[in-house]
Amino acid sequence: RRMKRVIWMISGSNRRMVKLLFALALIAYIALFFFFFFLNLLFYSFSQKYPPVKFLSEKDRKRILITGGAGFVGSHLTDKLMMDGHEVTVVDNFFTGRKRNVEHWLGHENFELINHDVVEPLYIEVDQIYHLASPASPPNYMYNPIKTIKTNTIGTLNMLGLAKRVGARLLLASTSEVYGDPEVHPQNEEYWGHVNPIGPRACYDEGKRVAETMCYAYMKQEGVEVRVARIFNTFGSRMHMNDGRVVSNFILQALQGEPLTVRATNHPLQDFIFFFPIVCTLLVKYTALKMYCNISSPVNLGNPEEHTILKFAQLIKSLVVSRSQIQFLPEAQDDPQRRKPDIRKAKMMLAWEPVVPLEEGLKKTIQYFSRELEHQANNQYIPKPKAARMKKGRTRHI
Ligand SMILES: NC(=O)c1ccc[n+]([C@@H]2O[C@H](COP(=O)([O-])OP(=O)(O)OC[C@H]3O[C@@H](n4cnc5c(N)ncnc54)[C@H](O)[C@@H]3O)[C@@H](O)[C@H]2O)c1
Repeated sequence: RRMKRVIWMISGSNRRMVKLLFALALIAYIALFFFFFFLNLLFYSFSQKYPPVKFLSEKDRKRILITGGAGFVGSHLTDKLMMDGHEVTVVDNFFTGRKRNVEHWLGHENFELINHDVVEPLYIEVDQIYHLASPASPPNYMYNPIKTIKTNTIGTLNMLGLAKRVGARLLLASTSEVYGDPEVHPQNEEYWGHVNPIGPRACYDEGKRVAETMCYAYMKQEGVEVRVARIFNTFGSRMHMNDGRVVSNFILQALQGEPLTVRATNHPLQDFIFFFPIVCTLLVKYTALKMYCNISSPVNLGNPEEHTILKFAQLIKSLVVSRSQIQFLPEAQDDPQRRKPDIRKAKMMLAWEPVVPLEEGLKKTIQYFSRELEHQANNQYIPKPKAARMKKGRTRHI
């Protein structure tokens, strides 16, 4: 009996000991949990650095939808509007846009990214819509012309429908391509254009023309507030390596020692507007101003300074310090011979002035493409735009 008592006493003290140890372990566990939790929080708050964002009062803060906001122009517009303190929703199907262009905003309380095709209806609540969704470079919009038409027509109808339902103002990113291969020089907003409706560029040119028509039909019939910016050639950082337009082509060719391919041989003049993100991106700044201005009719946004394509190629060659040769290629069908915006209206209404010196804009863009090339295997990247989709055996338009 005595033995049993001793055993019981020992096991009793053991139980207390076990309980004590268990309590200590629990306390240590909770302490460690909180320690790591706060450590994580600290690390997260230091590692998540967003660009500086202004604080806007409830009254001034707008809920803004940017379609095509992960693209080249759209992502710079996203930066501007986010930094101005608005709530921005980017809608993109990532056809030519990239998440990388807006990744620095992911997780920010004012930012949302939606993977959505504007050809499908969208139901969200917004105060303003910047409608940019559309492939913009010829190789991209010619790749799938039917999709380009759908994006510019059905997509624009959907966005105008949304604007009507929620009472939002819509700004359409239109283009100088609505003037086609112009017979008037320079082109002012009154000029109706000269477009081949069945040519290879028609899916984009006519698509944008119909998109403009739709905007003004919704304005007249339904009272939707619309703004139309006719954007001329723009370049800068975040352009896609496969963009296929002259600036990115020349820079990539020069950086890699490839021949600079000049297409226009007869009238080698085209417009260029330089666009760069450091000084608030000219185009973006004025696009945003256009949204707020009181005049709904279209406005040209572009650079009236003319440069021959050849001189332009030589300038890029010298800035890159490249040994590339210049190679002439035959003209592409329906390529505009000459383009120059008449910007008197923009100057009067928006105080627009394309003030960034061309070389400065080009240097920034060259730096951007050099960095992009570093991400490629062997620092080599030959732009290879996809060939236009065409079913075999079908009649081809020649
Ligand atoms: N960059 C220029 O020189 C220029 C000149 C004139 C007009 N614009 C217009 O400005 C806008 C933006 O041009 P960009 O140069 O940034 O082109 P971009 O190709 O870089 O951007 C277009 C964006 O729209 C998205 N998109 C395309 N189809 C879509 C769809 N069906 N649904 C949702 N998203 C879709 C793409 O993924 C991309 O992110 C376009 O509307 C273009 O027509 C641009």
